[in-house]
Amino acid sequence: MSDEATTNRRISVSDIKARKGGRPLACLTAYSKPMAQWLDPHIDLLLVGDSLAMVIYGLETTRGVSLDAMINHGAAVIRGSERACVIVDLPHGTYEESPELALASSQRVMAETGAQGIKLEGGVEMADTIRQLTENGIPVLGHIGLLPQKAESRGGFRIQGKDDEGWKQVFEDARAVDEAGAFAIVIEGTVEALAREITEAVSVPTIGIGASPACDGQILVTEDTLGLFSDFTPKFVKRYAELGGVVENAAKAYAEDVHERRFPELVHCFGVPKDKGN
Ligand code: KIV
Repeated sequence: MSDEATTNRRISVSDIKARKGGRPLACLTAYSKPMAQWLDPHIDLLLVGDSLAMVIYGLETTRGVSLDAMINHGAAVIRGSERACVIVDLPHGTYEESPELALASSQRVMAETGAQGIKLEGGVEMADTIRQLTENGIPVLGHIGLLPQKAESRGGFRIQGKDDEGWKQVFEDARAVDEAGAFAIVIEGTVEALAREITEAVSVPTIGIGASPACDGQILVTEDTLGLFSDFTPKFVKRYAELGGVVENAAKAYAEDVHERRFPELVHCFGVPKDKGN
């Protein structure tokens, strides 16, 4: 059992960093207080991912979510958790333009949510920004490989590192993000051997999603693992439950009860004599 699992305090980014090469990090996304409450006892890092644009708001890409929305969801996840390290995604358009913009957005996220750090997408081109954030006390989770915010402009959700040029680029991205001071790096959608090679080469934990079991940790979108998001299921997802069907059956049973006047019963009513209402 890891040290932080035996204490009552929240897992810090230093704890996450210290897990390099050790017990793998179990990470999931969370967007709401109730979901965070269920996940918190077991999960090392909860990511308030901008995937919520697609999963919660039904948008076609991760791009349509505002900083205000991310902050609201981030604050909810903090309220619902006491143990996990909570990281909030900087959404598209709130950091790429300049390190100054990234710093202002990150400072808002940190101050208004109480999260332990932020995540941003990008490699070599984001290194200066990551350096500036970490020098200003903002812990950064890097994200390289398949970058959902840029997928549209790069021809869709494509696995990265399949050819020599792509492999070299993702490897250089990993090195740049590591050297710039990120406390960990998400590797998304790469060929397995590349993720393994990066994990051996960088000084901080790698957290894979569609990457490699050799990564120092794994992350998935919670709704994918629970069968609650059925628009599509990527190859790298493992379904641990089929809650969509459970929710549908519950809704069906409730509707039948209402239609047949079986609900509410007197036990659900106020001002009913005790012998009838209990
Ligand atoms: O937005 C997100 O949920 C993510 C993870 C899937 C890594 O970036």
